[in-house]
Amino acid sequence: MNHHMGVTGTAAVELLAAATDAALRSRRPEAWVCEAIRPAMAALLVDRDPLPPGARDPYEGGAVGNLVYADPEARFHILVVVFPEGTSSGIHLHGCWGVIGYLQGGDEETRYRWRDGRPVEESRHVWHQGDITYLLPDEMAGPDGRAGCWHRVRNPGPGVGVSVHVLCRLPADHPHDFWDRDEARIVAFPFVERAPGRWQAMLGR
Ligand SMILES: [Fe+2]
Repeated sequence: MNHHMGVTGTAAVELLAAATDAALRSRRPEAWVCEAIRPAMAALLVDRDPLPPGARDPYEGGAVGNLVYADPEARFHILVVVFPEGTSSGIHLHGCWGVIGYLQGGDEETRYRWRDGRPVEESRHVWHQGDITYLLPDEMAGPDGRAGCWHRVRNPGPGVGVSVHVLCRLPADHPHDFWDRDEARIVAFPFVERAPGRWQAMLGR
């Protein structure tokens, strides 16, 4: 545990963090790192009691990322992302690697490729409990050649969608942008701590 944590970790979270630490110490490419994290994520997803109390709770009825681990060396963090039924993330970018494991409910994920100055839908997939996917920025470069992975996550229901995200850097530093469809422009979409350990992506002003 460390002072960044909003809630207490569990054995499954600690093992996932340890696997991520070991993978990063290998200094191998991001795709290799994600594969190395996968077994610990798979173990967490079948664990009987994988998350600390409150980690599956929405924030004021809305989507939230509940922080369950922050790396003391600031290389990564683990968020439990909660999407109440019917909520959507909007189209957004992750500028560095991530591993996502689906724990509860169904999440529909759409991925985009940049074409002619806007994100164009490339694939759509409904993930279920036990599924694992990666964010690998090199796969979906942004408009200016910047590495990025553009996607949108939506919970079509029934029930609350809960997924576990191992993401590069710490929440406040995680590179995260939003596609403003109406204005046809990219805007900042930083994670903001709304309450201790409870992070929401907020449109930049
Ligand atoms: Fe995302």
